[in-house]
Amino acid sequence: MIVVWRVTQQCNLACQFCAYDRTLAWPRNEADPAVIRRFGTVLAAYQQQTGDRVLVSWLGGEPLRWPPLAELSGHFHHDLDLRVSTTTNGTTLSSPAVRQHLIETHAELTVSVDGLNEFHDDVRGWPGGFAALRTSVTALAAEKRALGKGPLLRANVVLMRDNLAGFPRLCEELAGWGIEQISFNQLGGNDRPEFFPAQRLLPEQVRWLAAELPALRTRLCTRGVQLLGGPGYLRRIAATTADERLPVTDCQPGERFLFINEAGSVAPCSFTVRECGVPLTELVTAEDVQRLPLRFAAARLSRSPLACGDCHSTQVFEKFSR
Ligand SMILES: C[S@@+](CC[C@H](N)C(=O)[O-])C[C@H]1O[C@@H](n2cnc3c(N)ncnc32)[C@H](O)[C@@H]1O
Ligand code: SF4
Repeated sequence: MIVVWRVTQQCNLACQFCAYDRTLAWPRNEADPAVIRRFGTVLAAYQQQTGDRVLVSWLGGEPLRWPPLAELSGHFHHDLDLRVSTTTNGTTLSSPAVRQHLIETHAELTVSVDGLNEFHDDVRGWPGGFAALRTSVTALAAEKRALGKGPLLRANVVLMRDNLAGFPRLCEELAGWGIEQISFNQLGGNDRPEFFPAQRLLPEQVRWLAAELPALRTRLCTRGVQLLGGPGYLRRIAATTADERLPVTDCQPGERFLFINEAGSVAPCSFTVRECGVPLTELVTAEDVQRLPLRFAAARLSRSPLACGDCHSTQVFEKFSR
């Protein structure tokens, strides 16, 4: 079971493609640490009773800058035996103490890197950011090797019109940092309508990517790096560039994946919180978690979320397939 938990809407960067860009003025919320602790206990009970290993994956905003998170990650890992993961912009990784904490508590760490050098720095509004990431991720990988433990290191790349051609070179660079897995998203449109039209992938670019991927995968594999994403994922990307809808009638909601937002609503994915969201206050036992698939399926039937008519859930479309 993968539980993606968006704990804060605050961020310190100004990525031109992202809704959480710190320069955008809107009221930001964050999760209640007491609610997180309480539901952690429920997840631990679920894990123990079912034998289904739980991975809690923190998302934001920028999760590693949210003050309560370090203590919660330690509690989840050391006391509850849950696996912990974070997706981060990497701005805190220059701190040896943060890296040590991640080595002690995390099963996985995903660092966002969107292009080589200036491209990354410009698109993320972080001068010197690419060089800083290279130094700190390389240090984290070395510390991990020296200690013989630490999180699986993954990089996530947002593919857009102006960085696609550089993607193979970026992957080779990331292999040199000690990154073990690389995943990618295509640029999504809803968040920043002023950026999207000029940067969305073109159909011919997706055809190029599909042709390049097998050889790139093989090259990376010889360096011990997995490039993730199954055939369904490329179909999803191609459909988006062609403005084709991909409806999904049964994604088996709540069976393998849960999304929780900062307000404490749990849903089958981030797109269906309004129609299917269940307050965490209603989930107090492991059985309540086991009943979620039935509750979500009923909610989907009665409320037919608009998002399911053109499903953009990366989980459903094999983003992480090996
Ligand atoms: C919203 S960020 C939050 C975590 C962290 N702040 C970071 O940048 O990794 C999670 C992931 O979504 C990606 N992302 C943000 N906006 C996107 C968009 N419009 N389209 C596709 N991916 C996007 C980011 O690059 C990042 O890998
Ligand atoms: S992609 Fe991450 S770092 Fe960039 S603005 Fe969004 S939340 Fe912040």
